[in-house]
Amino acid sequence: MTALKLENVSKSFGDVKVLHDINLTVEEGEFVVFVGPSGCGKSTLLRVIAGLEDASSGTVAIGGTVVNATPPAKRGIAMVFQSYALYPHLNVKDNMGLGLKQEGQPKEVIAARIAKASKMLSLDDYLKRRPAELSGGQRQRVAIGRAIVREPKLFLFDEPLSNLDAALRMNTRVEIADLHRTLSASMIYVTHDQTEAMTLADKIVVLHDGRVEQVGSPMELYNNPANQFVAGFLGSPAMNFLTASVKGQTAGETLGIRPEHLRVVEAGRINGRVTHVENLGGDTNVLVKTDGAEALTLRLFGQYAAKVGQAIALDFDDALAFRFDVGGKRLG
Ligand SMILES: Nc1ncnc2c1ncn2[C@@H]1O[C@H](COP(=O)(O)OP(=O)(O)O)[C@@H](O)[C@H]1O
Ligand SMILES: [Mg+2]
Repeated sequence: MTALKLENVSKSFGDVKVLHDINLTVEEGEFVVFVGPSGCGKSTLLRVIAGLEDASSGTVAIGGTVVNATPPAKRGIAMVFQSYALYPHLNVKDNMGLGLKQEGQPKEVIAARIAKASKMLSLDDYLKRRPAELSGGQRQRVAIGRAIVREPKLFLFDEPLSNLDAALRMNTRVEIADLHRTLSASMIYVTHDQTEAMTLADKIVVLHDGRVEQVGSPMELYNNPANQFVAGFLGSPAMNFLTASVKGQTAGETLGIRPEHLRVVEAGRINGRVTHVENLGGDTNVLVKTDGAEALTLRLFGQYAAKVGQAIALDFDDALAFRFDVGGKRLG
């Protein structure tokens, strides 16, 4: 059964259309990530699915039932926000249980579900604390716990890790992946961060200006991007786009070459000078200005001694390069 099906969903605020004819399915148990730059419509789409916003047109079906007219509380969804949205005067246990209490669930059911979620999220030692007495990571786990106890048909996460520092973001990312495996639940996760999308998703939906650019598994999108936007959005450092730097390059075309696919050679099709070196220890990013006056990044595995200002010659395997027309459409 499909967990979610969107058909021609559009959304306007006044005269401004922010979602354009979105068609999408989420299969049962699938982890789907909506990724795209800030302002592209990710939160709006999630809020339309949750029922916090009405679609201007199109249908939203959850578990095979059209829910356009169903209020959020009756849609079988649970949402986790970046801001946590916990009640400051309630302790962890009561924050997690409040939704169930409001649903009128029996005390024993509430207690059992809190106990299970709390164990899963390592919150047992914090049940009596209020949100102010918790770290950011613990607060976010409480917010996730509050979603789990509802046993929703569909989890909706809106940038849940954005308020956490880098190390905690990575830990929590792994915890969310574990959680998805444990619960086998259908999840939609919104982020502007391509790393989160690549590492968490079964299926990525790339959004841009309120439109779906491409849908596919992380490696499908990485290895076979439909257009220059997707090619440039997924991958870090981002793909290089060159119009005038490669010997023999066709005028009017853009060549897309990933930083890890460039290699340093004695004589090659790209020549330039090193402008900056990022020594990360495990790998090295070398920034180059080409003789064609374009900037590119080269990613080398391991450590590499490069000096700013030195001449550098580069080449690449044609099979690993992409070609785009002036409109960003993939060629060949
Ligand atoms: N309530 C609203 N009223 C008017 N415009 C809105 C409203 N909510 C969002 N928008 C606009 O819709 C677009 C998409 O916003 P949003 O879905 O929040 O993007 P994202 O989550 O991808 O950053 C933005 O241009 C934003 O300004
Ligand atoms: Mg948003």
